[in-house]
Amino acid sequence: MSTIILGIESSCDDTSAAVTRDCVLMSNVIASQKVHEAYGGVVPELASRAHQQNIVPVVSEAIKQAGIQRTDIDAIAFTRGPGLPGSLHVGTAFAKGLALALDMPLVDVNHLHGHVLAHFIKETPDAPVPDFPFLCLLISGGNSQIIKVNAPRDMEILGQTIDDAAGEAFDKCAKVMGLPYPGGPVIDRLASEGDAKRFRFAKPHIDGYNYSFSGLKTSFLYTLRDAVRENPDFIQENLPHLAASLQKTIIDILMDKFTRAVRDTGITTIAIAGGVSANSGVRAAVQDYARRHHLRAFIPKPRFTTDNAAMIAVAGHYKFLDHEYCDITAPPFARVVI
Ligand code: KG4
Repeated sequence: MSTIILGIESSCDDTSAAVTRDCVLMSNVIASQKVHEAYGGVVPELASRAHQQNIVPVVSEAIKQAGIQRTDIDAIAFTRGPGLPGSLHVGTAFAKGLALALDMPLVDVNHLHGHVLAHFIKETPDAPVPDFPFLCLLISGGNSQIIKVNAPRDMEILGQTIDDAAGEAFDKCAKVMGLPYPGGPVIDRLASEGDAKRFRFAKPHIDGYNYSFSGLKTSFLYTLRDAVRENPDFIQENLPHLAASLQKTIIDILMDKFTRAVRDTGITTIAIAGGVSANSGVRAAVQDYARRHHLRAFIPKPRFTTDNAAMIAVAGHYKFLDHEYCDITAPPFARVVI
């Protein structure tokens, strides 16, 4: 007997629905919200309104593309948190309504577990997946964590950011340079044409496997402020070099703690996940490290790095197999880890 899961993701500014059969992808529909571009960041109220408009057509399309009937679904998995409260409410309410209407089990998923389990989305039935335990560097707009993954539902956080996330460092520094939101992909593109050794920015000294990115942001801001006083065109003239130097600093900070955790634990399978794992420099650094140390590295396809419901369906699949269902009265959680 195979297990078919409908996944629903609405934690931030992407409305997504996906169908998996035993973790093999049958459909993954994502409606990204363009409405935020004019504001330089996600506007929560606009995000929840857009989710309301998108959720019915997105779920219908995912079921249609999967080539199944609604009654073929075994369980509905949805992102319960963390994320924007209004956005989470739309997905949560919709998932509950559908589960009630179809008389189906409901499974709540921690968005961050979803990102890690994106490595178990199979595009073909025999696609390779990580063996356990593996170490995952989860880097997104809201989180930077080093996670020891013992089993699909057994994860230990070894270290995490004490202030900003890696994605915030990209986005906030991009904003200072006058680049559009989200700045991460723009910096990635610019960095390929710049000299990463041109500028140096502060690196944190934090205990253990924890991260900090707020000092880098301040150091970046002060460097630019002082330089622009001398030359008002400084940013424009140095854009690719600033992007390359910033990206290199963020990668160095990430790799310093991640490689230390790999060394200390002796774990030989590593992975990256989350929006920032789409960064070409991060991907190359992890691949290069794995090659030099004879490790197995799992680098997600770019479309599975950002928010998507396929990863929620896969995380829901494992929870469903353990018969862990969500109560129909369960509220979404903006921050709490479930
Ligand atoms: O995981 P995600 O889609 O959203 C959550 O935080 O849940 O991650 C979004 C973050 C943004 O900060 C964005 O700038 C960053 O991922 N990002 C990148 C790249 N693509 C997306 N950062 C650096 N390089 C990229 N290519």
